[in-house]
Amino acid sequence: MPLDAAGRQMPDRLAHVNINTRDLDADIRFFEEGLGFSLTDRSKMMGFLRTNSDHHAVVLAIAEVDTLNHVAFNHPGWEAVMKASGRMCDAGFGIGWGPGRHGPGDNVFLYFVDPFGMVIEHTAEVLQVDETYRVGGPEDWSWAPGRSDQWGIAPPKTEACKTAQLAIPFL
Ligand SMILES: [Fe+2]
Repeated sequence: MPLDAAGRQMPDRLAHVNINTRDLDADIRFFEEGLGFSLTDRSKMMGFLRTNSDHHAVVLAIAEVDTLNHVAFNHPGWEAVMKASGRMCDAGFGIGWGPGRHGPGDNVFLYFVDPFGMVIEHTAEVLQVDETYRVGGPEDWSWAPGRSDQWGIAPPKTEACKTAQLAIPFL
């Protein structure tokens, strides 16, 4: 597992970027036809697009503003996600959402708000897919009442995290 000089957990790479958009269909078309991404899943509120075997490298989310939702950092496994999150807590940055396991992409997650108001996610174990993967639609991705992750353990997202996920505009 990647560690810094002090032996503390750190990410091994960027995992994905999540972008808010007022026009999800137009943005999906841009990433597919303009940039060559492939749509992996489409939930009611989000489109998941990939460039390799990772289920998604870009996530587009319906919102009333065109802003940055969050940036996710990858780890080699959920143990590393937990340790990296402990490092965040030790440094005074409390959990904004999680721990949990997402639906589309199947990845483990913990969210934090950085000092400038940007949301970052520590994540691992994203689903690996190929061209045989069936692109899911909104009917494939819904939660039972009260749930927001597969395990059913993620507490409600903090208001600070929700606010930050809409707050960083593209100028
Ligand atoms: Fe994410």
